[in-house]
Parts: sequence; structure tokens; C-alpha cells
Amino acid sequence: MEALLVRKLGDPTLPPNASEKSSLDLSTSHPIPNLESPTSVRVRIKATSLNFANYLQVLGKYQEKPPLPFIPGSDYSGVVEAVGPNVTKFKIGDLVCSFVALGSFAQFIVADESDLFQVPDGCDLVAAGALPVAYGTSHVALVHRAQLRPKQVLLVLGAAGGVGLSAVQIGKVCGATVIAVARGNEKVQFLKSLGVDHAVDLSSANVIESVKGFLKSRKLKGVDVLYDPVGGKLTKDSLKLLNWGAQILVIGFASGEVPVVPANIALVKNWTIHGLYWGSYKIHQPNVLGDSLKELLAWLSKGLITVNISHTFSLTEAHLAFTALKDRRAIGKVMITFDGGKIVKSKL
Ligand SMILES: NC(=O)c1ccc[n+]([C@@H]2O[C@H](COP(=O)([O-])OP(=O)(O)OC[C@H]3O[C@@H](n4cnc5c(N)ncnc54)[C@H](OP(=O)(O)O)[C@@H]3O)[C@@H](O)[C@H]2O)c1
Repeated sequence: MEALLVRKLGDPTLPPNASEKSSLDLSTSHPIPNLESPTSVRVRIKATSLNFANYLQVLGKYQEKPPLPFIPGSDYSGVVEAVGPNVTKFKIGDLVCSFVALGSFAQFIVADESDLFQVPDGCDLVAAGALPVAYGTSHVALVHRAQLRPKQVLLVLGAAGGVGLSAVQIGKVCGATVIAVARGNEKVQFLKSLGVDHAVDLSSANVIESVKGFLKSRKLKGVDVLYDPVGGKLTKDSLKLLNWGAQILVIGFASGEVPVVPANIALVKNWTIHGLYWGSYKIHQPNVLGDSLKELLAWLSKGLITVNISHTFSLTEAHLAFTALKDRRAIGKVMITFDGGKIVKSKL
């Protein structure tokens, strides 16, 4: 099968197998994984998404450092291709999605049936492969942790990125007033087309002034929930916009800078700071992840959320997918698909 291997840590934007410097190695004869247990399922992968964590992992800058060589990739969707003798939930031909710590940048993957989710009728299969990590993170953060309520003011940083765009959409589903922060006119126009209440273009506006102006125009005091996958100075500025009793969702540090939230101000303003590592729920509270993903798939099938895929590549072009993410060109998700094109369940 085709699989992308990381043979050494380094820059994943260099073409696979091109030179000594390439960290990626594209294999066309990697062994197809065997069913490991009676409840194992082998999935022929249709789509797998590129997350910022995958990029950091190839660079060797992610918190989890697997031994080399490894196949990167975490969330995916596809078609059930083989089932173990005790599998009861799935049959060959079913459409499924899931997530793993490693291994989805390949044509086939094996998972236990308890780790797979049925993709409901009418859901785009490629979109389902983009859902687990990005939408799962924002759903657990906003719905489970912050318990976002209608009319609360949600400020989303990095709002046109993978997790950011999902937070914007989930915020709208929850009935919040959503303020989106992104860089560049194209991203801001896209966010406006999704119905955000206010969008800040960092290439031309100051976040503090722009958000304060919007809050004043709506007679709102401040921000109730800050969703922060960016960090750095943007976080520091955003803290100036928070209400008494606000919640801060620490999601990531795309800027490369871990921000400091002064504890004395958190005390005086009664802020709650939630550190959130979505993947670790799989170990500590797997039911939260499972329920969250089922709700997201239901929302996707009802059209309450949509997945914007700005870039789609084949596995041989994986370095271009990493480049799109690195260059901040993605609006929503960057995907790697197998056999090209989109498949809708009804057409299978
Ligand atoms: N806690 C968790 O469980 C969890 C789960 C998923 C992701 N994350 C983290 O969330 C962050 C975003 O992930 P993602 O997959 O959404 O990435 P992404 O699609 O690349 O989005 C990141 C966004 O951050 C903004 N940004 C600001 N400074 C940046 C910089 N120096 N380099 C790159 N982007 C920058 C960009 O927006 P503009 O260009 O518009 O400024 C970009 O749209 C990452 O740190 C990731 O590790 C955490």
C-alpha cells in the first residue's frame, strides 16, 4: 500500500524521497496492516486531515515524540474493507471515521470496532475525515468545558484555521455572539459569509480597538469565552477584552509563543482558565470524546455545521499540504485524499 513515513525529524515541506534532507519517505509497497484481534476492522482510507500537530510532530516539536520511523496522521474517514470474526457493529462497505495517535497517512488502517464511528447518511465522507480533531477539540472545549450559552460573547483567535473555524461554527450553533480574528481579507470575507457577528482583520486592524468598538455598538460589556489556538501577543491583547467571570480556553500556540496569563488578574476578575488537550480525553474520559463526535456527525448530516476544505492533495503531494499549513494559506482544513474527488454515501 501507499504510506508516508517520517524517517527523520525535519522540514515536511520538502518533497518526499527527494534528497538527503527530506524527512518524508513515500513508500508504495508498505505492508497492508493485518487484523490484530477478532474485533479489528480494516479501513480503506478515503481522506485524512492535516492538523498543525502533525506538522509539529514531523519537526520534532510536538509534545508526543514517537520513535522513528512512523506514519503520521490522526483523523481519517474511509470504507470498511475487512472485519474480524467478532465484529458486530460494522460490515464490509460501511462508511466510517475515526482518529488515532499515528498512522492515517496511508491507504489502509486497522482499528478496533469500538474506536470507529459510522458516518451517517448524507454526510460527505471527506468532510467526516476532517471532523474528529478540529471539530472534536472545539466541541469538547466550548460545549463540554466552557458550557457556552446563547448570547454569551465568544472571541475566537486564529478563526480561519482548522480548529478556529470549527469553533466559530460551533459557537454559532450554541447561539453565542461570535467575534472572529484572522489575518487577511480573504479569510475575513469567508468568516463574514459564515455569519460571524464581527470579524477582525489583523492585517489592517488592532484587535483591542476593533473588538471594543463592536462591543460598544452592541452595548456589550466584554468577552465571556476566549478560544485561543494562537498564543503570543494576540492572547495578551485579548485578555484586555475579557469580562469578569470570563473563561479562557487554552487550545494551542500556533504563533510559537506560549502566553502568560497573570494569576493576579485572573483572581481579581474571577477568570477560569481551561487547559485543553483533546487527545488525552481518549485515555481519561473516552465517553466524552465518543459522545462529542457522535453529536458532531449528527450536526454535519443536518447541515448545522459544514467543513470548509481549502486544499486537497494526494499522498504524493503531502509536502504541499504541509506547505499550505505552514504558509497560513488554509481556510478551514487541508486534506489528503486517496483516489481523488469526493464521495457521498448515496453514490457508493
Ligand atoms: N489542545 C488540543 O487538543 C488541540 C487540538 C487541535 C489543535 N491544537 C492546536 O491548535 C493550534 C492550531 O491548530 P490548527 O490545526 O487549527 O492549525 P491551522 O489550521 O494552521 O490554524 C492556525 C491559525 O493560527 C494563526 N496563526 C497565528 N500565528 C501563526 C503562526 N506563526 N503560524 C501559523 N499560524 C499562525 C493562523 O491564522 P492567521 O494567518 O489568520 O493569523 C492560522 O489560521 C495548533 O497550535 C495546534 O497544535 C490543539
